[in-house]
Amino acid sequence: MVKRRTINIGFIGLGIVGQGVWKHIQRNRAELEQRLGARLVLYRAAVRDPAKKRPVRIPPSRICVDPLAVATDPKVDIVCELMGGTTLAKKATLAALKCGKIVVSANKALLCQSGEMLFRAARKGRGHFYFEASVAGGIPIIKVIREGLVANRFDLIYGILNGTCNYILTRMDQESLTFEETILEARRLGYVEADESLDLDGWDTAHKAVILGHLAHGNWIKLRHVPVEGIRRITLEDIRWARDLGYKIKLLGIVSRDSQSGKIFVRVHPTLIPKDNILAHVDDVYNGISVTGDIAGTTVHIGRGAGQDATASAVISDITDAVSALLGKPSTLPAEEEIGGEIFPAPEAELADLSEISGHYYIRLNVVDKPGVLAEVSAVMARKEVSIASVIQPKVSLGKRATLILTTHTSNEKIIQETCRNLKKLKNVLTAPFLLRIADFKD
Ligand SMILES: NC(=O)c1ccc[n+]([C@@H]2O[C@H](COP(=O)([O-])OP(=O)(O)OC[C@H]3O[C@@H](n4cnc5c(N)ncnc54)[C@H](OP(=O)(O)O)[C@@H]3O)[C@@H](O)[C@H]2O)c1
Repeated sequence: MVKRRTINIGFIGLGIVGQGVWKHIQRNRAELEQRLGARLVLYRAAVRDPAKKRPVRIPPSRICVDPLAVATDPKVDIVCELMGGTTLAKKATLAALKCGKIVVSANKALLCQSGEMLFRAARKGRGHFYFEASVAGGIPIIKVIREGLVANRFDLIYGILNGTCNYILTRMDQESLTFEETILEARRLGYVEADESLDLDGWDTAHKAVILGHLAHGNWIKLRHVPVEGIRRITLEDIRWARDLGYKIKLLGIVSRDSQSGKIFVRVHPTLIPKDNILAHVDDVYNGISVTGDIAGTTVHIGRGAGQDATASAVISDITDAVSALLGKPSTLPAEEEIGGEIFPAPEAELADLSEISGHYYIRLNVVDKPGVLAEVSAVMARKEVSIASVIQPKVSLGKRATLILTTHTSNEKIIQETCRNLKKLKNVLTAPFLLRIADFKD
């Protein structure tokens, strides 16, 4: 009988994801080890509180509070960074890569902030850095883009990348609950990150969009160049009016590339998408990503974006790639350096300016209810050459106030933002205009 090599795995963090990974490795151990030709051992783990009760059993001597001790332990073959954060996690990841180890990570915030540095460290130390779990949990989107669709140039990738926001928007739509009511429920169910801004203000989506941008175009777009808007200002009325206009509102991360100029644009905002778009039917905590390649056309990928099981599935997929690399088995997975790295450096991407992004827009205005206000609004828009496609004034009594919903024909981001600033200056416009993008994506 051939003796199987033992692969020692070190966990930095044994929380929701870490415990899920080990639970599922235990459950499917026989098949996994048979397929891999190796024995998997939970060799060591670093946690914050070693006294905490956990279903995963690990001898006390193998548990510590020092992530760096796990990262640099010569006996550890694969380091799983499942702690989160960008300070200690970065230190530990860099230390492991410096030692030439393979690091598996679910840490999208760290990857978005320091991806370039991590990949450089992986190349220098001759290690590897795998990150399937960082985007859309149970959907193997990293492999889809890196492997399955590698022959393509990607003009458009967009998706629902944050399950919490999608849950909130779905509940508002289906149960007619307000944002405030839904957020209470989401908190109760533990769907919202401790730092709520990550979910609700779009930052988590932005981290994932930046990672998708890197995969598709080989460039790390700086977060400061990504316009990011979250879902806090969306009202139940916006959802209803969008519905009346034939749309659903979804928070999207969008990576687009102009096929003429090659310029790239990464952005995050709530978007009206047509009801017949597949992603309009991706509800609750599910994620959905549409990828358009110049050869394959459009493929759409839907699944659980987060949670213990979905994320563990992605981490275990990376662990199996890591084992293959350790055993010297051929892998179809391109090494990190092949995506915009030293072997095939991607040309520096030119970023598109706001004026180069065009589309249709939805503007909600809170105005004084008196004759002539619509004419004032129209005049401001006409001066900016923004053509109005439709006007709705809901027949709801708001005293001396009224709501106006305008949609526009094609305009561009720069002009529409200037128009909103000018509208805000009108005496009869009572609050800052609320702007949503309408995307007529076919699928
Ligand atoms: N949860 C999800 O659905 C999901 C989905 C995709 C990606 N992710 C990513 O996966 C990573 C882990 O998420 P999670 O939900 O599993 O987090 P979690 O449940 O909070 O677990 C974090 C783990 O890290 C340990 N830890 C924290 N600070 C530490 C320190 N200073 N030193 C040593 N250990 C420390 C904690 O120890 P104690 O157990 O002792 O507290 C815990 O075991 C994050 O990067 C997250 O963004 C999570």
